[in-house]
Amino acid sequence: MKTIIIVGILLVNLALILYSIAIIPVIIKKTLLKFTFPAFFLGIVCDLSATICMVIGSTHTALSRHGLIGYSALAFMILDVVLLFRFKAKNVEKTTLPPRMYDFTKMVYFWWLVAYASGAFIIMFR
Ligand code: HEM
Repeated sequence: MKTIIIVGILLVNLALILYSIAIIPVIIKKTLLKFTFPAFFLGIVCDLSATICMVIGSTHTALSRHGLIGYSALAFMILDVVLLFRFKAKNVEKTTLPPRMYDFTKMVYFWWLVAYASGAFIIMFR
């Protein structure tokens, strides 16, 4: 396997850890915590870098099924952090998420795990 793909896989695993640190406590407690945004932001940086490494190292077109699921998952993560940040900026005291925002965050995390699994399948069935 190309080194750049291995670097991409390491970075995407780091993104998984950071997104999980950011999002799982939000899902459990339905509230934003101190570390939510730093972990979320670093997760996006790792996810974006991993995607770039995978595109560079890929033997397929960048618009493969795995690629498209991956881009959409990354885009949803960025949208979610923007929405959460806007909510936090407007509600300085209140950190409990409204139900729609809570459901959206859960859905985005689940979709990202689907993208992650689609990458893991490439390795397993290679
Ligand atoms: C949500 C996270 C992920 C994103 C955004 C992502 C994104 C991408 C993109 C855009 C490509 C280039 C298009 C393609 O070759 O299909 C790619 C290729 C690849 N990805 Fe991922 N990926 C993710 C997770 C993973 C994971 C978890 C693994 C493995 C454990 C993985 C392994 C690979 C491999 C091996 C390729 C190269 C495929 C080939 O050349 O045949 N990806 N990824």
